[in-house]
Amino acid sequence: MELVQSFVYETLRLSPPVPNQYARARKDFKLSSHDSVYEIKKGELLCGYQPLVMRDPKVFDEPEKFMLERFTKEKGKELLNYLFWSNGPQTGRPSESNKQCAAKEIVTLTASMIVAYIFQRVMFAKAGMPQIPLACIRKMKLWDSEKEITHENCELS
Ligand code: HEM
Repeated sequence: MELVQSFVYETLRLSPPVPNQYARARKDFKLSSHDSVYEIKKGELLCGYQPLVMRDPKVFDEPEKFMLERFTKEKGKELLNYLFWSNGPQTGRPSESNKQCAAKEIVTLTASMIVAYIFQRVMFAKAGMPQIPLACIRKMKLWDSEKEITHENCELS
């Protein structure tokens, strides 16, 4: 399950479904990034652009690459503090003062279940291997996952 969840987190990292987020500052504060600090005044409108933030090379190794296991193990758990698809870190909690997606846990859980469901029913082949004809796949009912389909047992008639 950890790997399936990591798959979902990595998808949300590379393609955040809500790319732009806006907020108006409730008070003066300093906004710091890796090497700069910005003075924000109360009432100013801020915009976050997630596709850019989620590819920060100072946070994510090889940020353009889809790394299935990126959010696994200790380091992966730490990275969840930087996964911002829901208007706040994945480790944050939505509340009346923290306007994060109220369904962020159910969203990732449901997505994980859908991914697991698909993976159980899809056949993968290495590139370069002979391809199984589509007609054969239809006939053998791939979703009957018990059966391994090869050219030999594929009866096309
Ligand atoms: C991939 C799917 C989803 C994404 C990317 C997403 C993302 C977001 C984001 C970015 C916000 C903050 C919006 C803002 O700036 O004000 C938000 C808020 C919210 N989301 Fe989601 N969401 C998703 C699915 C869902 C689902 C399925 C539900 C409900 C079942 C839900 C319920 C809410 C609620 C109630 C809020 C408002 C929270 C508040 O106003 O304090 N979201 N979501």
